[in-house]
Amino acid sequence: MTSDLAGLLAREHAIRQETEILRDANIALTENLSLERVLETLLDYLSKLVPYDSANVMLRLNGSRFVVSALRRYEGFQNVEDTRAITLDSNENELIRRICETKQSILIPDTTQEPTWQWMPGAYHVRNWMGVPLVASGKVIGLYSLDKVQPDFFQPEHTRLAESLAARAASAIQNAQLFEQSQHYVAELEERIAERNRVEAALRESEERYRELFENARDAMYVHDLEGTYTSVNHAAEELSGYSREEIIGHNFTEFIAAEHVKQVRAGFCGKLAARGETSYEVDVIAKDGRRVPVEVSSRAIYENGVIVGVQGTARDITERKQAQDALQMFSRQLIEAQEEERRRIARELHDQIGQVLTAVKMNLHTVQRVCNGTEEGAHIKDNIEAVDEALRLVRDLSVDLRPPLLDDLGLVTALRWYVDRYAKRTGMAAEVIVELTDPNERFSREVETACFRIAQEALTNVVRHARATAASVSLRKEGALLILSVKDDGIGFDHEALQRRAPRAATLGLLGMQERAHAAGGVLEIHSRISKGTEIRLKLPLDAE
Ligand SMILES: Nc1ncnc2c1ncn2[C@@H]1O[C@H](COP(=O)(O)OP(=O)(O)O)[C@@H](O)[C@H]1O
Ligand SMILES: [Mg+2]
Repeated sequence: MTSDLAGLLAREHAIRQETEILRDANIALTENLSLERVLETLLDYLSKLVPYDSANVMLRLNGSRFVVSALRRYEGFQNVEDTRAITLDSNENELIRRICETKQSILIPDTTQEPTWQWMPGAYHVRNWMGVPLVASGKVIGLYSLDKVQPDFFQPEHTRLAESLAARAASAIQNAQLFEQSQHYVAELEERIAERNRVEAALRESEERYRELFENARDAMYVHDLEGTYTSVNHAAEELSGYSREEIIGHNFTEFIAAEHVKQVRAGFCGKLAARGETSYEVDVIAKDGRRVPVEVSSRAIYENGVIVGVQGTARDITERKQAQDALQMFSRQLIEAQEEERRRIARELHDQIGQVLTAVKMNLHTVQRVCNGTEEGAHIKDNIEAVDEALRLVRDLSVDLRPPLLDDLGLVTALRWYVDRYAKRTGMAAEVIVELTDPNERFSREVETACFRIAQEALTNVVRHARATAASVSLRKEGALLILSVKDDGIGFDHEALQRRAPRAATLGLLGMQERAHAAGGVLEIHSRISKGTEIRLKLPLDAE
């Protein structure tokens, strides 16, 4: 009776103790979110419930592999590193496979008697073994094993006690794993945010640098949209135009550019839409105070995802360069004019003075000839008269070449006809003048007429000298406000670009002189020539120029 009572009391005490341990274990397991702490807590409380010699928790990695993730008390029996290295595969280990399949604990009373037992380093001391599955959300996420050196020690009661922690431990482990995973995600997210911040900072810095370059550039810089409305300009643009930024942004480029240039700029802009790359052109900006500022513009299209969204450009003030160019053109014009004037004077001198002296000599010779008629001296005098005639012809030719009086008196067309006619006779080449003017007797400014005549003269001289041509033609026509003079031949032609690259300047003085004259008169000279395809020298002169 007493012993019954004592047994009853002891039993009641054991139950109370067990309940307390379980309550504490539940609290301790849920308290912690660190996986390592959860596993240690599990092994702690297991030792309070079951007197194991050694124990470990294996967690399922991916698929079928289970690895030792926490362990206790192996150091007394084994090299702990060996135990730690144990991994089991449910495909290869019968006991593990059974636990996964049945989700039930297994108790091996004596491992030496168990045919499916696999001996492995780190667990040689185990004679009595108990494996309890950790099941969470219906899946085996791991297991814990309790070992005994002594066979047949663990009883079903031990198994029941060991199992009493399984459910709570499994869910604590799952929570800890989820938490770890979320920590991992948070860290990754933080890293990504930090990376983005770094990229943004770099972007801000490069934007800052660009802004500074843009702002402090000496050339005016701008960006405008597809309509030509400015979206940003720099300080130099304000200086150049005299307008403030606020007065430029939101306004169209047409408001700031000389009216006669707008069409050209727009055409350049359309060209840009068609082809990538930079375009350069010169225009006049009309400053706020009405001043015209000549600028050289380089602009290029801005793309966004391969689509043009606007134009960005720089405008350089070329007032000084323009002034230098103008001065140079003026000097060369004055030089040409002085040269013409000198030639005119020498031509007149030759014709009037020397021509008259020769005429006087000729008249005197005629008088003497009449006296000596029939004598031997008379024959000499006849020879002399012929020599004087020849001299007179030479003087006349020289004088008209220097400055044909026709050019001043009757104009360009007549002078060209006369010159080409004489040229054909002298050279034996077929040569003609083609005039396509509404008024064939139209007169142009002296500068224009002189430039045309001299260039035709020089070009025709080149034809005889170099072209080996059978025919040459000079044509005159108008294209809008341009007068066009063209001298063509059907000769051997030449490679002008190669000549410019290779030949010393002195070897092309004739061509350079023609170009000089063209520029001085405000025009341009084009040289079109191809080997064995003949040559055309084309002069384009603006007629509205003074
Ligand atoms: N009509 C032409 N046909 C063929 N070659 C020409 C013609 N005009 C000019 N050239 C070539 O260009 C060169 C340069 O001409 P130019 O400057 O007038 O110098 P130059 O007449 O003193 O040789 C000539 O030497 C010749 O080789
Ligand atoms: Mg020449």
